[in-house]
Amino acid sequence: MNKVIAIANQKGGVGKTTTAVNLSASLAATKRRVLLIDLDPQANATTAAGIDKSKKNICDNFFENEELSNCIHKTSDDYFILPGSQDLIALDVAIRENEKQGYLKKLIENINDNFDYTIIDTPPTLNQLTMEALLAASGTLIPLQCEYYSLEGVAGLIKTIQAISEKNLSSNRVLGIIRTMVDLRNNLAKEVSEELEKHFQGLVFNTLIPRNVKLAEAPSHGVSGIKYMPDSYGAKAYLALTGELIRKVENV
Ligand SMILES: Nc1ncnc2c1ncn2[C@@H]1O[C@H](COP(=O)(O)OP(=O)(O)O)[C@@H](O)[C@H]1O
Ligand SMILES: [Mg+2]
Repeated sequence: MNKVIAIANQKGGVGKTTTAVNLSASLAATKRRVLLIDLDPQANATTAAGIDKSKKNICDNFFENEELSNCIHKTSDDYFILPGSQDLIALDVAIRENEKQGYLKKLIENINDNFDYTIIDTPPTLNQLTMEALLAASGTLIPLQCEYYSLEGVAGLIKTIQAISEKNLSSNRVLGIIRTMVDLRNNLAKEVSEELEKHFQGLVFNTLIPRNVKLAEAPSHGVSGIKYMPDSYGAKAYLALTGELIRKVENV
């Protein structure tokens, strides 16, 4: 069964895209069939996946009725991607104005048989695009940087996920919080990290993603950190995180 996972946090720069790309690459490395969907108008995941802007993307499917299969492309990391573009800003409005809520959920239902995992990268706001991801997903991962203001917003996001789930609009649940760009030499990071474990017991992934420059360099080469520098601390951490996720969602 296709496991649909949204990567969300209204804050920007917390590692959503880096997590989406490296998780997709790590899952593909285990021979699982993976689709990454880029829902951010900045289309950072699309660039990081090495996909040319001229390729058909999700907006071509929505606005031009382009066949979905023509909009899905294989990456050099062996996962597939449904790219985004800046036209996603218009898509956000169009879904609201034309009452097309649930477009993404329906789109994914049509390709459920083709994939084991669908990972959705979302923009840094709780807009209609993020709602589309939350409605389509069966689980949400929340990347979080251990800083003073990090906890603000997370409670709101968790409430939103619970609310749509209670309205039976989705079966989405929070799969876990991922601590990103961790530097435990920093005392504040350590404090926030411990605070997180206390507040969100059972929800915080054990694997810490360290701050590692290789993860930041990889996107400019159009590959994941896993492929760019497999022996780096960053790559190893994302592989470990993926193992933890697989054990969580596949009960193995
Ligand atoms: N673990 C990490 N170590 C070093 N740099 C990172 C790490 N994770 C993300 N970055 C960098 O931080 C910036 C923000 O990350 P990104 O994944 O784009 O966040 P978001 O998608 O939440 O806005 C990017 O320049 C990215 O390359
Ligand atoms: Mg991003």
